[in-house]
Amino acid sequence: MRLYKKEGSTIQIISFPSERVNKGDYLVIADSSTGKGIIVQVVEIQYANIPGFLEELLRSCNDDYSIQGEDVDPFEMSNHIRYIQDAHLLICKIRAVYSNKGPVFASSLLPSRSRAKIKKISTERLFAQKKPNIKYLANLGETTEKNQLEVDIRALDGSLNIITGKKGTGKSHISKLLTLSLVSQGAPVVILDLNSEYTGLGQDSDGKPNRFHKQIHILTPGHNLKVTLKQLKLGVMTSILVNALNLPGTSAREFRRIWRFLEQNGNLTMQDLGSAIKSWKCNQHVRDALFSRYYTILGSGLFTDDPMQAISLEDSLKKSRVGGAVVIDLRDTSTIDRLIVVEYVLGKIVELLSRWKLKAIFLFAEEAHLYLRETYWDDIVTRMRHFGVFTTFITNQPDTIRENIYRQADNLFLFNFTNEHDLETISRASKVDAETIKSIAHDLPLHHCVVLGNIVNDFPIVVKVRKLDVYAKGHTRLFFSSKTNFREVIQQ
Ligand SMILES: Nc1ncnc2c1ncn2[C@@H]1O[C@H](COP(=O)(O)OP(=O)(O)OP(=O)(O)O)[C@@H](O)[C@H]1O
Ligand SMILES: [Mg+2]
Repeated sequence: MRLYKKEGSTIQIISFPSERVNKGDYLVIADSSTGKGIIVQVVEIQYANIPGFLEELLRSCNDDYSIQGEDVDPFEMSNHIRYIQDAHLLICKIRAVYSNKGPVFASSLLPSRSRAKIKKISTERLFAQKKPNIKYLANLGETTEKNQLEVDIRALDGSLNIITGKKGTGKSHISKLLTLSLVSQGAPVVILDLNSEYTGLGQDSDGKPNRFHKQIHILTPGHNLKVTLKQLKLGVMTSILVNALNLPGTSAREFRRIWRFLEQNGNLTMQDLGSAIKSWKCNQHVRDALFSRYYTILGSGLFTDDPMQAISLEDSLKKSRVGGAVVIDLRDTSTIDRLIVVEYVLGKIVELLSRWKLKAIFLFAEEAHLYLRETYWDDIVTRMRHFGVFTTFITNQPDTIRENIYRQADNLFLFNFTNEHDLETISRASKVDAETIKSIAHDLPLHHCVVLGNIVNDFPIVVKVRKLDVYAKGHTRLFFSSKTNFREVIQQ
């Protein structure tokens, strides 16, 4: 490899056919005279543009007219010409300057073109400076040089993370991998599971209980997630009514009075709440507003008056304090009920965190735009983060996440995107240059992602995500699937 050009933070390197370099690989350009070097990442591979190459191609294009005769090549030039014709131009981005002390983030060095030695550098050596604690290492998969990528899972602590990519590329898979890595390190995780995909985390691929079985708590609203009004704080209930069910301010004020009245009389039940709204002396519009919300929460099935039926989220969360995941299965929950459940779950988490019943929580939210109200996004990345809610958003529509949220993301797991608009959205807001994002993400194969952020010490790394031995649930139902025989089903 030979150093060719430097323009700003872009370096161009000529590589020859015998040198196998992939997009995403890291190279070190070492200048022996100064003992320093630059660490660059290959973001694009092109043909080397050699002057006169077009003429050469046209001249050698003799397929239609085969000329009789013998090629005379006394100096054996043809091999050299072919070698040059197949040379590649590597477009690289400077990631760090390398000295004896290790990598430093800067791009000011200009290595000697004649003396610079260019060679590949492994991710292990890239990370060598920051020695992680072996106890907290999590294996994400295989890098392009077939090395295992072990990251310090503590990089997710206090962080906002985004997993995004095209449909079916492996986003939920990596979030399961991160969840299990966190659980095995003793961290509590809450998953807002839209498609019932995470309910198999406690089973292996054959459906048998795995080593995480006891640490995975699946809660289905209306079935094993039910609460009594006594278990609920007024604040959580009002935020359900106001935020999820758009109850106007005056009606909310009246509701608080009714609640306190019932609380004082020890009658805080759904039944008594209904009767109290009916007989409460207030404006008819307020009563109507309260009644419509009352019937919605009654219909959600989340609330019960029977303490025996009540299964509190608090208990499951407390059980996960030493490592566990609470999966809130939202698959069979209607849109409005989903808003109620999510409002309740987040309200409860913040309540427990503020009372120091929980130290912190890792929240995984799939397609959050379907159940998170507008204002929650900022809340989650600012206020709730201070309380100890560390969120990972997972989406295949990157434009549903606002630009300011991308900017605050500490880690980004980016899978393949071919759509220019999607790539534009991410590259505009990411901390890494747009060229890296667009070029690398565009060519990522299935189940490969580029990891950016603190977790990889700010060196974007392409990784083939490792397999997981967990029961795959939440498959898309297909008509032409061989697994279900519809005729048999309707005959039953
Ligand atoms: N690294 C991997 N190794 C093996 N199988 C994988 C890997 N990643 C994903 N898969 C499999 O590929 C399929 C799709 O993966 P997954 O559900 O994670 O994609 P997704 O991006 O979340 O899709 P969607 O956009 O539909 O939510 C699943 O059956 C999953 O088990
Ligand atoms: Mg998914």
